[in-house]
Amino acid sequence: MTSDNLAPVTVIGLGSMGSALAKAFLEKGHRTTVWNRSPGKADDLVSQGAVRAATVAEAVAASELVVVCVLDYRAMREIVNSLGDAPSGRVIVNLTSGTPEEARETARWAAERGVDYVDGAIMAVPTMIGSEHTLIFYGGPQALYERHAASLSSVAGAGTYLGEDAGLPSLYDAALLGLMWTTWTGFMHSLALVGTEKVRAESFLPYAQDWFQHVVSPEVPNIAAQVDAGSYPDNDSTLGMQAVAIEHLVDASRAQGVDTALPEFLRERAEQAIKRGHAGDGFTALYEVLRKPAAE
Ligand SMILES: NC(=O)c1ccc[n+]([C@@H]2O[C@H](COP(=O)([O-])OP(=O)(O)OC[C@H]3O[C@@H](n4cnc5c(N)ncnc54)[C@H](OP(=O)(O)O)[C@@H]3O)[C@@H](O)[C@H]2O)c1
Repeated sequence: MTSDNLAPVTVIGLGSMGSALAKAFLEKGHRTTVWNRSPGKADDLVSQGAVRAATVAEAVAASELVVVCVLDYRAMREIVNSLGDAPSGRVIVNLTSGTPEEARETARWAAERGVDYVDGAIMAVPTMIGSEHTLIFYGGPQALYERHAASLSSVAGAGTYLGEDAGLPSLYDAALLGLMWTTWTGFMHSLALVGTEKVRAESFLPYAQDWFQHVVSPEVPNIAAQVDAGSYPDNDSTLGMQAVAIEHLVDASRAQGVDTALPEFLRERAEQAIKRGHAGDGFTALYEVLRKPAAE
């Protein structure tokens, strides 16, 4: 059932993510118009009450808020370009993933055409869309975002506006993606190491979980505070001392026959920080190397 109190919404792009977005808008009661390059992907949504637009122009005409979620920025721009004239009185909220530069370029491209544009980055998989805990970052003109924030909260309760820079959502996205991949890869490397002695991952899991909870996570706020302060005091153990422990990790990995690339990377970055005079500082001094790598 659509509600007259809720703003109508158009969703362009009905892949896994676009379909989930359209479904969430529909379920919350928005009149939802949909368009997809391959029209068959709209069938399920139409059977649930969505309105099928025959053309992009028809889709854009149907609602002030136009959410686009397609494969990449190139596809997004092709779709908007196909309209010819800039859609007037419409706000495009682009939830297609990409890089900060692509987002900024697209915001400039939109501004040149007089298209109102907000960029966004979805920090979720399709099954999480519609939940109040799901996070989407937004960047672009504040007034545009605020005008549609209530509607956008239908797909992700934890919508967060980061500011006027359209590139920030993709930057936060990349940063969190990197955090996830490095954390998971570190865990898998530890499993590979103990796995050489036929230790099952599930047997090691409780120790890893305790390690995350009592050693890794509590240190995160300290790291943030030191990075903001630009000072890396040694809290109990110096980087010089920790570099020796990393050497053991490299040696143990080699001796056990598992991939040494990850610990070698850590050792090499620790050595760089030590060369720059941080041997007596804490582990957080590595931030200086990551922030500003040595010239090639
Ligand atoms: N799935 C996830 O877990 C997830 C999570 C976060 C962010 N995202 C981002 O969300 C976006 C969509 O992902 P998805 O999972 O929905 O991908 P998908 O299932 O592969 O769907 C891709 C969509 O893009 C459309 N498309 C591709 N090239 C096009 C073109 N040249 N012109 C018009 N339409 C075109 C496809 O249309 P056709 O149906 O006609 O091929 C389809 O609707 C991506 O940027 C992705 O990185 C996805």
